[in-house]
Amino acid sequence: RAMSIVKEFEEKCGTPEGKLKQVADAMTVEMHAGLASEGGSKLKMLISYVDNLPTGNEEGVFYALDLGGTNFRVLRVQLGGREGGIVHQEFAEASIPPALMCGTSDALFDYIAEKLASFVAEEEQRFQQPPGRQRELGFTFSFPVMQTSINSGTLIRWTKGFSIEDAVSQDVVNELTKALKRKGVEMRVAALVNDTIGTLAGGRYTNKDVAVAVILGTGTNAAYVERAQAIPKWHGPLPKSGEMVINMEWGNFRSSHIPLTEYDHALDVESLNPGEQLFEKITSGMYLGEILRRVLLKMAEEAFFFGDEVPPKLKIPFILRTPEMSSMHHDTSSDLKVVGNKLKEILEISSTSLKTRRVVVELCNIVATRGARLAAAGILGILKKMGRDALREGGEKTVIAMDGGLYKHYTEYSTCLENTLRELLGEETASSISVEHSNDGSGIGAALLAASHSLYLDEKS
Ligand code: BG6
Ligand code: GLC
Repeated sequence: RAMSIVKEFEEKCGTPEGKLKQVADAMTVEMHAGLASEGGSKLKMLISYVDNLPTGNEEGVFYALDLGGTNFRVLRVQLGGREGGIVHQEFAEASIPPALMCGTSDALFDYIAEKLASFVAEEEQRFQQPPGRQRELGFTFSFPVMQTSINSGTLIRWTKGFSIEDAVSQDVVNELTKALKRKGVEMRVAALVNDTIGTLAGGRYTNKDVAVAVILGTGTNAAYVERAQAIPKWHGPLPKSGEMVINMEWGNFRSSHIPLTEYDHALDVESLNPGEQLFEKITSGMYLGEILRRVLLKMAEEAFFFGDEVPPKLKIPFILRTPEMSSMHHDTSSDLKVVGNKLKEILEISSTSLKTRRVVVELCNIVATRGARLAAAGILGILKKMGRDALREGGEKTVIAMDGGLYKHYTEYSTCLENTLRELLGEETASSISVEHSNDGSGIGAALLAASHSLYLDEKS
């Protein structure tokens, strides 16, 4: 009985190449629809107001706040202009206390402002601002925001584990600025960016071929450089560059071609945001371990997979986190020692047979493979929209800047994603497309965008 549950799950999660191509085509179609009008698609295709990516000329000391991943970060980056590059960078990191993720807007922003205040206080002596000049900050805020300018925008809704009702529809820069005032921090928010936009900007700074950014972390999302004229819903002036960076919010993508199972439906219904972020719920780090837990629970309940009793811990939502799933999946020991230990530590299952541990690894593989292959299909959809899914005249290269804990730490996942992308593109085209890890690039990207939107651009820094 247990094996028939596994078999059925595997079949339902299947992602043959033909299906992935349908998913990619659906992604392209939805991109067009989302660009045509607000509300035209589940894909929001948000306008970032970034119409110029970093050039390398950025200069001065800038700050960044990075909120929305596993860790919250405060950064200071010293940019040395054309010759200098990044002269110096420092950061402080903290996790957001879970209570603040579901509390009030003031409580969250006060916490952030306090961290920034102590970071600034420590370096006050070393980095004096010129008289009359305010410190400037790039704010990476990794949630869907309807921007009204480069440094303002309202929160559309929370995603991942956040749910702070009174912040929805508020201008997040305004919320931050008020908190900075309350905490006595003198700082101007020069740029508000999504983490995908920050990653794209940071990636472009070091490699001019970067045209797409993908985050695979707690959540998942992508951004890319679009022709301004191909954005019917943009009624503002045509940017000089002719380009506009789009935050797709692809976590909310859905398509009838995406393979879904009973476990995904149940996870969705019981989540903080039912009916939303379906693509995110089957591809990203917050959810993969939870899908695995749900399958194991069913096997325990209906097929006595772990013996006569259902391990009580297995009933606790989100107890099995993706990093743990990753280490079980990665277990290379012949007796699957890591799997055994994890099952013991996390689920308090005292002893398991090798056969049982093998099945657990198999399940990890099914869940991760579906996620990684779908993410690759999503990337193909973007490349199609950009006309870069075939070799380009002049040998133009396309680089995808990638970041996020899932991509960084779950080797089986990232390897599968890269192999699938090659499979979908074919060897020849794949040779012109590369995926580059942009380590924590989104904070630096936000600082770079703060620099290019500084109030003091005309002054010598
Ligand atoms: C980081 C970025 O590197 O990746 C964050 O700086 C981003 O802004 C994060 O949110 C996503 O990864 P995770 O795994 O922390 O959600
Ligand atoms: C979620 C957020 C999105 C973010 C992504 C990756 O999908 O809605 O804005 O980019 O997570 O952090």
